[in-house]
Amino acid sequence: MGGRLDGKVAVITGGASGIGKASVERFIAEGAHVVMGDLETARGEAMAQFHGPKLAFRTTDVKNEADIKALIDLAIERHGRLDILFNNAGSAEPDYPVEKIEAGAFDHVMHLHLRAALFGIKHASPHMQAAGGGSIISTSSVAGIGVNYGPLLYSIAKAALIHMTKTVSVRMAPHKIRVNCINPGLIATAVFGRAFGLDQDAAEAAQPKLEELGAFAQPLPVGGNPLDIANAAVYLASDEARFVTGQALVVDGGLTTGTVPDPNGGTAAIITDILGVDLAAWRAEHGIG
Ligand SMILES: NC(=O)c1ccc[n+]([C@@H]2O[C@H](COP(=O)([O-])OP(=O)(O)OC[C@H]3O[C@@H](n4cnc5c(N)ncnc54)[C@H](O)[C@@H]3O)[C@@H](O)[C@H]2O)c1
Repeated sequence: MGGRLDGKVAVITGGASGIGKASVERFIAEGAHVVMGDLETARGEAMAQFHGPKLAFRTTDVKNEADIKALIDLAIERHGRLDILFNNAGSAEPDYPVEKIEAGAFDHVMHLHLRAALFGIKHASPHMQAAGGGSIISTSSVAGIGVNYGPLLYSIAKAALIHMTKTVSVRMAPHKIRVNCINPGLIATAVFGRAFGLDQDAAEAAQPKLEELGAFAQPLPVGGNPLDIANAAVYLASDEARFVTGQALVVDGGLTTGTVPDPNGGTAAIITDILGVDLAAWRAEHGIG
């Protein structure tokens, strides 16, 4: 049976860990050739060695436009075409209070999470036009659609990334280049451990526990993991999504539906507490729950 990405060439950024790494593995399993960029040279090279000719790695800082261009050029050099770009690299930054935001921190977050994706599209577009079309995916976040799902600057950048996706999708549509993003909810990756000062190995070792506890973070009682996002990326990258563009696909176990996971808690508990009503007794009296 053929793979869902057979014959396609993909560039993936942030591929040495978490969502990016799972995506590299899924894309290869579905038949794609992948060219991956990441800051982490040793990890990237080890992955390239493991996957052989299906994966090329280039040390890349996506905050640097020349690095982005060189990564895309590498895909063209090796394979002569580019079909898929997955702008995924990112990291978690401190949640600065508004009064303490400095220009350097602002620029860092915007360049990493927003400008990198736009410049990725800038350099991928001519090659995709030459190939007769393509699929561009960026990793945004639930932090870009709701408040307090992430740090302030990060949330602003991810929200802008969603609007950039929609706006650019219209400019790219005549060329049959589809532009979408994915909004993950809580996904157990090393990003959290590293944000709190752990090294990559320790941060990865904490992933299973994070996934286990993540089951309590949203209505669906399962912890989100990198494969959940990689699978969404395979769909958007494949021809199955040929009529899908300008979308922000939420993959969050229901986190952003606005519900509270515990039907006996949440708003009802707060209101009845204020009113001095015994919620458990009231529910029993009305035969609820
Ligand atoms: N984990 C979550 O819960 C979650 C939720 C929503 C969105 N996201 C987004 O998903 C994406 C992937 O994050 P993850 O959770 O897999 O984290 P991760 O830390 O496991 O992986 C991120 C990768 O990006 C690389 N990277 C960071 N800065 C880079 C740069 N300047 N240039 C190139 N590579 C760089 C890192 O080295 C790392 O390999 C990010 O954009 C993140 O904001 C994650």
